[in-house]
Amino acid sequence: MPKRLYIETVGCQMNMLDSEMVVANLRRQGYELTNQPQQADTVLFNTCSVRQQAEEKTYGSRGKLKDHKQRHPDVTIGVMGCMAQKDQQLIFGRAPYVDFVVGPGQLQEIPRLIEESRSGKEKQLAVGLGRRDGSLEEIKRSHETFDPLRDPDMRSSPYQAYLRIQIGCDKFCTYCVVPNTRGPEQGRAPEQIEAEARVLADQGTRELILLGQTVNSYRHQSGDTITRLSDLLVRLHQIDGIERLKFVTNYPRDMTDDLLHAIRDLPKVSPYLHLPLQSGSNRVLQRMKRGYTLEIYDEMMTRIRETIPGTAISSDFIVGFCGETEDDFDKSVAAVNKYRFKNSFIFKYSERPGTKAADQLPDDVPREVKQRRNQDLLALQNQISEADNQVFLGRTIDVLVEGPSKRELRHPSGGHVIQMTGRTHCDRIVVWDGNQRQAGHLLPVTIYDASAHTLFGHVVTDHVGPEIFDLNAPQTS
Ligand code: SAH
Ligand code: SF4
Ligand code: F3S
Repeated sequence: MPKRLYIETVGCQMNMLDSEMVVANLRRQGYELTNQPQQADTVLFNTCSVRQQAEEKTYGSRGKLKDHKQRHPDVTIGVMGCMAQKDQQLIFGRAPYVDFVVGPGQLQEIPRLIEESRSGKEKQLAVGLGRRDGSLEEIKRSHETFDPLRDPDMRSSPYQAYLRIQIGCDKFCTYCVVPNTRGPEQGRAPEQIEAEARVLADQGTRELILLGQTVNSYRHQSGDTITRLSDLLVRLHQIDGIERLKFVTNYPRDMTDDLLHAIRDLPKVSPYLHLPLQSGSNRVLQRMKRGYTLEIYDEMMTRIRETIPGTAISSDFIVGFCGETEDDFDKSVAAVNKYRFKNSFIFKYSERPGTKAADQLPDDVPREVKQRRNQDLLALQNQISEADNQVFLGRTIDVLVEGPSKRELRHPSGGHVIQMTGRTHCDRIVVWDGNQRQAGHLLPVTIYDASAHTLFGHVVTDHVGPEIFDLNAPQTS
């Protein structure tokens, strides 16, 4: 009987990548993945702590499993990810049916933790060191991840892969748990990154998304040689099979000219930058300890627009941060109006234990005010996104096809048509009625409609062979 694993993942791309690695590792040890928690003998929760809501999600779903554990005491339940690192043994108190808790730097220990839990060991905890609990080297080592175990079956699209180039964060924005949960900033060695990129290219990956919390601060030193993100892009650009290179998340202060020149000169690098501003008010930015002013951000935007015109820029905002006045909020509104981001993720401030803001700044913006500001800023951003997407109407753009979107459609011709989805070079989502065989191809799609978040198109058949578009062809998967 194969062992069955169920895994639930919340949080950012780092967590998705960690889950991919953990599953790849367990599959090698004979585990099979199931999407039914009731059928699993091992259940893993990969958790996020960035906002309270993210934590509640996990406690909510674990609540559901409590009964299951009572009926099937053999099931092993593990909590991994940022909440595991942040709350450690507190998790056993809140959720006594959890067997082990494992931090993002100890993922390679999961097979052992499962085995030991099965053989009746007490509850187990394997986490990294706190930011003051050892020498820098010891702390760094306790937060290292294990990345090379790539498994194309575990990605939502085998043609697109995340590749971690940086671990941790040293920026310590006052609201944020990540420097505590993911440890000190560390750039992975370029040789390791390139080797992993080649494995991914051999597995059919066409788009690589390089990951780091402040990915453009990437730096690796070996002897006298310093590698920056721009150098890494040059190196990865040479890999056959890789068609597109993206990287997230950028830190506005480190958007240096060498990087802008690399984006301009390397055609595979996408003209897309996620550059969270967080607030349009200098007073708030200072309290957040973001390390830049609106003027510095503005200067950076000017350089980007001059060096790589047409680059799509997206942002994150936090509304209702400690002490944010109506006037501060209006400045975020003005910034969204001025920069016309491709899209923005807008979050209500959530106080996180252990952060500087939680210790020193009162969370004094009422919940309803946060809610209203969130809705207002989102409505404005959506209006802008929708208006700016209209320029694509009638245009034919190259889309890297990821696979079927959730919705299945019947074509009037009777052929089996499914809604396919993919992204443009500038990271816009495109959907059209197509065929599974298009997956993994770079396809010209003509756009006929556009909403704030999606471009709707149809495929231009005269550019590609008929085999891809035979609507009646048997489905390959
Ligand atoms: N390293 C990235 C983002 C990490 S977290 C960066 O620096 O941009 C993703 C986003 O969550 C952040 O950009 C921020 O907008 C939001 N966020 C982080 N901590 C938060 C908190 N305590 N409350 C609300 N939003 C938060
Ligand atoms: Fe958090 Fe700031 Fe680091 Fe981003 S840069 S992960 S917001 S501390
Ligand atoms: Fe959440 Fe950790 Fe990512 S706190 S956002 S899963 S780095």
